[in-house]
Amino acid sequence: MGSSLSCCGSEKVDEGVGIGGNSPWRIFTYKELHAATNGFCEENMLGEGGFGSVYWGKTSDGLQIAVKKLKSMNSKAEMEFAVEVEVLGRVRHKNLLGLRGYCAAAEQRLIVYDYMPNLSLLSHLHGQFAGEVQLDWKRRMKIALGSAEGLLYLHHEVTPHIIHRDIKASNVLLDSNFEPLVADFGFAKLIPEGVSHMTTRVKGTLGYLAPEYAMWGKVSESCDVYSFGILLLELLTGRKPIEKLPGGIKRTITEWADPMILKGRFKDLADPKLGGNFDESQLKMGVNVAALCVQNEPEKRPTMREVVGILKGYDPKGKVMQMKIESVKYGDDLMAMDQGSDEEDGKGYDESSAYGVFGPMDNRVQKMQDPYKRYGDGRIVKHG
Ligand SMILES: Nc1ncnc2c1ncn2[C@@H]1O[C@H](COP(=O)(O)OP(=O)(O)OP(=O)(O)O)[C@@H](O)[C@H]1O
Ligand SMILES: [Mg+2]
Repeated sequence: MGSSLSCCGSEKVDEGVGIGGNSPWRIFTYKELHAATNGFCEENMLGEGGFGSVYWGKTSDGLQIAVKKLKSMNSKAEMEFAVEVEVLGRVRHKNLLGLRGYCAAAEQRLIVYDYMPNLSLLSHLHGQFAGEVQLDWKRRMKIALGSAEGLLYLHHEVTPHIIHRDIKASNVLLDSNFEPLVADFGFAKLIPEGVSHMTTRVKGTLGYLAPEYAMWGKVSESCDVYSFGILLLELLTGRKPIEKLPGGIKRTITEWADPMILKGRFKDLADPKLGGNFDESQLKMGVNVAALCVQNEPEKRPTMREVVGILKGYDPKGKVMQMKIESVKYGDDLMAMDQGSDEEDGKGYDESSAYGVFGPMDNRVQKMQDPYKRYGDGRIVKHG
């Protein structure tokens, strides 16, 4: 890290200077962000997630920003904040929502991003814009490829490589041209002790979690690939990752899609809001990619490089049509925690019931055995 990063207030950094001189971000003062967001008032709030609340704002020079006000941090997390900010400051890609800046005042940690006028993919698929049907087929294809390219960059091109861990529709933001920008990479580690982001996430977005991550906390790039597969299916079909059926039963998007894929009824999978205006071969290809991505065994999933190759029609892996889509069976108690079908942003979770990130997940994803043997020296080896 450059010695100029003054998150703890010990060193002075000139505003307007990014690390290495090539980053467009700068340091904001708390006063400036307070003024830009009208005192972080309720009307400016865009939403609330696992790390804090996000507010719309306008700086004195007219730039529209989104300010994420993180929940209080402990001293250990403070250093991690600085490291993460430095990493995020280096990331530059057309499909990633990079940093515009940050503020590390005495008690506050705030991250500043460019404001995305079309908000999130979630708001268009299931939220406030859902009725307007602005997502035609061409835009959906652009969103699929763009978000895949953003992830490819994180997994394979930036150093150090970054695993997102929270790919979902609310973390795919849309600019004025509906170009997707993947947001919130890198901050998954910034969870103050005792606060379980996993709890929050399960309550809102269980359906995106790869089984090996939900059960054993095994994190790798292929967890993101799994989540991307669910996101892609959601984008093509307009269905939520987990739906609540009459009678309170919950069904995952893969469970819903499987019988139709099996019978080759691809047209029935397309979002009815498209009114039949879609390219059938692209739809099939997209479903095929999703089926490859959501395989239970992480080793079988393609890399994001392969996913991008298939989406562009270059990779031969995409030629073999998957006639089955695997479905994770989340346990009933986990399903009960999922509020994705009732609430859009995971608001209303009870932090007092927060527990360790992975401990309570054991036995909640049924019918799977841990294929990994863990040794005392930290090695993890796959059986067989
Ligand atoms: N730059 C931005 N422009 C416009 N809307 C944004 C921006 N950043 C975040 N939002 C919106 O603000 C809301 C809250 O975002 P936040 O990232 O805190 O929560 P989340 O995405 O629901 O969950 P997570 O904490 O897992 O990322 C979301 O609806 C998100 O789409
Ligand atoms: Mg987010």
